[in-house]
Amino acid sequence: MTRTPVNVTVTGAAGQIGYALLFRIASGHLLGPDVPVNLRLLEIPQGLKAAEGTAMELDDCAFPLLRNIEITDDANVGFAGANVALLVGARPRTKGMERGDLLSANGGIFKPQGKAINDNAADDIKVLVVGNPANTNALIAQAAAPDVPAERFTAMTRLDHNRAISQLAAKTGAAVSDIKRLTIWGNHSATQYPDIFHAEVAGKNAAEVVNDEVWLADTFIPTVAKRGAAIIEARGASSAASAANAAIDHVHTWVNGTAEGDWTSMGIPSDGSYGVPEGIISSFPVTTKDGKYEIVQGLDINAFSRARIDASVQELTEERDAVRELGLI
Ligand code: NAD
Ligand code: LMR
Repeated sequence: MTRTPVNVTVTGAAGQIGYALLFRIASGHLLGPDVPVNLRLLEIPQGLKAAEGTAMELDDCAFPLLRNIEITDDANVGFAGANVALLVGARPRTKGMERGDLLSANGGIFKPQGKAINDNAADDIKVLVVGNPANTNALIAQAAAPDVPAERFTAMTRLDHNRAISQLAAKTGAAVSDIKRLTIWGNHSATQYPDIFHAEVAGKNAAEVVNDEVWLADTFIPTVAKRGAAIIEARGASSAASAANAAIDHVHTWVNGTAEGDWTSMGIPSDGSYGVPEGIISSFPVTTKDGKYEIVQGLDINAFSRARIDASVQELTEERDAVRELGLI
């Protein structure tokens, strides 16, 4: 049976994450090896020529699943009929820019894009925001799309999740595939909290296997939380291939489901679970099935975790208040 192509829109398509992402979408890694895709590349006018170059290379791969590519700088065109939207393009922080300036500059991008999604996307649209500050950009876009169910707007903490798995595997000598039920809580920022208290290493409780609170507090958590900055320092540019990989993982898991007995981390609008104020887009442990996600409920949160979750959520609340004050939500 021939399947209907899925329309996938990528913003910031000419950027470095875009370059690492598009070929994997077109080769079937985002949605599955039997799902054809139409790609919509949304860029600003200065990015269009480079996006055309990337589209030429996509053509040259002769991917069997890639049906067509459309390139545009018009958000209404870019999101027309979109089933999946990956919002990667964002305004980076430049020298001398205050936090408020950054939020305001990104509001100028994510508010109109949220409206364009509201007005043009398909009814089953799923949105992943990658562009930083990802959680609050997702909140801005979601607030501008009142006709789209809020839960369709998500922010990427899967890169943090993958980083934490890798660090925990290295510490315990386990295989990456033996690490389950890890959680990133809060913001995709240095305040995020990677939680191993419910994680498992080859079926055993990870905190017990590690049995080293000093490593946890002084090495593991800061290494994961500050990994983005460490990559920038080492590479001279922010993470690109690993960020693209995480975006693929995020959407693939959302669409195709989590494995039995495991969960993942996604930045999603809070329903008030675990004391996180309703509406802010915060990372939670989630299971996914049939294209829907659910927060894992009933986890016991110890004092060590509580303080760290609260600190990251506090930062998100402040970001929400700042964009509210700027009239962006
Ligand atoms: P980049 O500068 O290489 O590319 C960004 C692209 O976005 C550029 O081509 C630019 O022209 C385009 N763009 C800017 N405004 C746009 C708009 N309004 N519409 C469409 N396109 C627009 O940056 P990058 O390295 O690809 O990173 C992109 C974003 O992802 C950054 O904000 C970065 O901080 C963020 N990021 C997030 C994570 C995460 O885990 N959530 C990880 C890595 C990077
Ligand atoms: C990352 O986590 O690698 C990025 O969000 C870092 C950044 O500031 O772009």
